[in-house]
Amino acid sequence: MNLTPEFSASLDRAAGLILQSKHVVMMAGAGLSVESGIPPFRGPGGLWTKYGEPTNLSYREFLQDPEGWWEERFRNEDQPGDPTYEMKVAVDQAQPNPGHRVIVEMEQLGFLQCVVTQNVDNLHRVAGSQNMLEIHGNRTFLRCIECGDRQPRDGYHFDSLPPRCTNCSGIIKMDTVMFGEPIPEDVMLACRQQAENCDLMLLVGTSGTVNPAAQLPIIAKELGASLIEINPDETSLTPWCDAILNGPSGEILPLLLKRLQNGGAVEPGN
Ligand code: OAD
Repeated sequence: MNLTPEFSASLDRAAGLILQSKHVVMMAGAGLSVESGIPPFRGPGGLWTKYGEPTNLSYREFLQDPEGWWEERFRNEDQPGDPTYEMKVAVDQAQPNPGHRVIVEMEQLGFLQCVVTQNVDNLHRVAGSQNMLEIHGNRTFLRCIECGDRQPRDGYHFDSLPPRCTNCSGIIKMDTVMFGEPIPEDVMLACRQQAENCDLMLLVGTSGTVNPAAQLPIIAKELGASLIEINPDETSLTPWCDAILNGPSGEILPLLLKRLQNGGAVEPGN
């Protein structure tokens, strides 16, 4: 990446803000996984740009006919030209990119205390993130809608549809949060606590358009936290930010980590 003096100054500012902070939270979105070959949802090449955004009725439709929903899900996963198929193929082939790996290093080095991710692609876990909240679930898991029990989808036997929970016989769905579905209470509470307790939130690769996730940076900001945005594009959250790093997260996060390791100082050539 060609570092202009303006960009370098923003990088210094961002590193300085992180170094002053005691509790740093990251909110990640689909843009973080773009460099792993997974399309975002909105903007150029976005899944919803291409196929249209699902309606807020998705969860209600699931509840009305869970058996039919699962049958359609299995069909769509094998159907080229369907968004479910496109996402499955991309995610199944994806590996963490330098952005995911730097997030792990930042956590290990004490620069980052928690990641709230909207991504369901499991790449944070594959990379090795520990303190992580998956606000929209994880596509490699299933979840009971009654007791909230989660289990890996891999190896699960779909003997009958809809699948039923062995603990409480509740209906099982994908762990991924559907449009119109409330975020599981335990996860939502933990995310709110992170927003309320952080003194800095890093916004990485999110358009900040889906609530309640998009409210978290606003809550943090209103309680006095600083916000840093890493994104090639302007978003609805940009006006709230104290430092803005324009560019792909797979390139910017490694540069930011270098600055942090140097105590915020610039080394020649960086
Ligand atoms: P979006 O697709 O709405 O936004 C992705 C953001 O990433 C945009 O602002 C892009 O400009 C930016 N971006 C693109 N390439 C990037 C790169 N290389 N590095 C950094 N940023 C880049 O994705 P989200 O904000 O995550 O919900 O969307 C929120 C939710 O909407 C998703 O979690 C999903 C979707 O419906 C569920 O699955 C429930």
